[in-house]
Amino acid sequence: MPETVGFVVVANRLPVDLVTDDDGGQHWQASPGGLVSALAPALAGQRAAWVGWPGVPDAAPEPFADDTVGEDVTLHAVPLDADEIAAHYEGAANATLWPLYHDLVVAPVYDRDRWETHRAVNRRFAEAAAEVAAPGATVWVQDYQLQLVPRMLRELRPDLCIGFFLHIPFPPVELFLQLPWRREVVEGLLGADLVGFHTPGGAANFRWLAQRLCAAEVDDAPIGLRRADGEIRLDGRTTRVGAFPISIDSAAFARRGADPATAERARALRAELGDPATVLLGVDRLDYTKGIEVRLDAYGELLDGGRLDPATTVLVQVATPSRERVDAYRRTRERVERTVGRINGDHAGIGRPAIHYVHRSLPPDELAALYLAADVALVTPLRDGMNLVAKEFVATRTDDSGDLVLSEFTGAAEELTAARLVNPHDLDGVAAAIADAVAGLGSEDSRRRVAELAAQVAEHDVARWSEAFLTALGRPPA
Ligand code: ADP
Ligand code: F6P
Repeated sequence: MPETVGFVVVANRLPVDLVTDDDGGQHWQASPGGLVSALAPALAGQRAAWVGWPGVPDAAPEPFADDTVGEDVTLHAVPLDADEIAAHYEGAANATLWPLYHDLVVAPVYDRDRWETHRAVNRRFAEAAAEVAAPGATVWVQDYQLQLVPRMLRELRPDLCIGFFLHIPFPPVELFLQLPWRREVVEGLLGADLVGFHTPGGAANFRWLAQRLCAAEVDDAPIGLRRADGEIRLDGRTTRVGAFPISIDSAAFARRGADPATAERARALRAELGDPATVLLGVDRLDYTKGIEVRLDAYGELLDGGRLDPATTVLVQVATPSRERVDAYRRTRERVERTVGRINGDHAGIGRPAIHYVHRSLPPDELAALYLAADVALVTPLRDGMNLVAKEFVATRTDDSGDLVLSEFTGAAEELTAARLVNPHDLDGVAAAIADAVAGLGSEDSRRRVAELAAQVAEHDVARWSEAFLTALGRPPA
C-alpha cells in the first residue's frame, strides 16, 4: 500500500511524460500544456501526491519524484494500455468532450464503447486517488478528462474533501445537451464539494444544467445574470460552484524577462531572424482551437496587400506537437503546414522566410527569450478556456514594449481587456488589429496598455488562483 498524504492532485497526465530517446533510453520530460504550467508552481513546497497517467502505453513506474514539481510531491502512475489510450484519451476526452466544450470547432464523435472505457478509466483514477488519500484529505481533481471522478471518489471515500477544476471552457447549455452522457457528467461533477470554472459564464451554465438535468436545487441567484458563485443541493449534499480564473507564476516570468541572459538570447534570436524591424509571434499546442490558421491567413493577406513588408517583418510560429493520433489534429497540422508553405512560397526571399515555423516544444529559457524578442504576440483561439501564453508574454516584458492581439473567445480576454481584442472569425478584423499593433509599436497608447496588462497579470498570479480555490474548498494552502 502506498503512503497516504493529506493533499492529492488527480490529473489525466502526470506533470512529466515518459519519453523514449533515439538510443532506446528513457527519460521524464515536462508534460505539454497549461495545466502543468499552472499547477507546478502552485504545488511547490507542499507535501502532496499527484495521480496521473505517464503519457505512454503500459508504463507503470513505482511512485517517484521529479524536479518539475519538487521532491515533496510523490507521483503515482495510473497505467493505461494502448486500447484505453485510444478510447479514453484520444476518443472520449479528445474526440468527444474537447470539441464539444470548444464550440464544436470540429464535430464531436459520440461513441458508446469509447465512453464505456472512459468511465472505467475514470474509475481507475478514483481508486488510485482513494488509495493515496489520508483520512479527511483534500483531493483536487483536474479537467475534462476526469469529470466522472468526483462522484466515484465520493462513493469510495465519503470522508474526503473533493475539489474539481475545469481547465477548458464549459460550453453553452444548448451544446452541452448534445452529449448522450450529459447527466452522468453533471452528476459526476456534483460529487465534488467545490467545482471551479475559469469564468462566471461557465459556472452559470453548469448550475442551469444541474437544475434541469438532475432536478438539483440551486440557490436563488438569478442564473441568467451569470453570477459566479452559488450552491447546488442534491441528495442531501451541497456542491459549491464558482469562477477561478487560472494564471501563471508572474514573478518568475518577470524575473526571466529581466535577466540579462534572456535579453542577450533575445538579441541573438533577432539577429538569427535577420534583424527584421518587426517580429510577430505565435506559441501554441498545435490544436484546431488555437486559431493558428486564422493568424496565418491574416498575416498572409497583410503581406499580399502590401500592408506589411516581408523584407522587414517576420512571423515566428512555435507549435508544440499535440494529440497527433487524433484525426482532426492531423488534418489541422496538414492545413497549417500547407498555409505556411504557401505564404513562404509567395513572400519569402532566399534565406529570408516570411514565417519561421517550429513544430516542437521549447525549453522555458528559450521561450522567455522569444517572448522578449517578439514585438507583437498573436493569440487568436476560436475558443480557449484561459490561454496562458497571453499572460506569459505580457509578464515577461518588463519595459512596457510590444503589443498583444488577443481573441475575445479566450478566458484571458475577460481579464486582459487592455489587449487588442479581436473576433477570430473576422479575418479583416484580425488583419486590421495586427496592422494597427505593428503601426502603433512604441506609441504612448501601446506602452500604457502593455503596462496595464503586465500589472494585471502581476497581481492575479497562479498563487492567488490556487489560494482562492483551496480556501473556498476549505483547505488553506500550506
Ligand atoms: P493549453 O493548455 O491549451 O495548451 P495554454 O496557453 O493555457 O494552452 O498553455 C500552454 C502552455 O504550454 C503554456 O505554459 C506555454 O508556455 C506552453 N507552451 C505552448 N507551446 C509551447 C512550446 N512550443 N514550447 C514550450 N512550451 C509551450
Ligand atoms: O487544459 C487543457 C489540456 O487538456 C490540459 O489538460 C493539458 O495540460 C493540455 O491541455 C495538454 O493536453 P494533453 O494532455 O492532451 O497533451
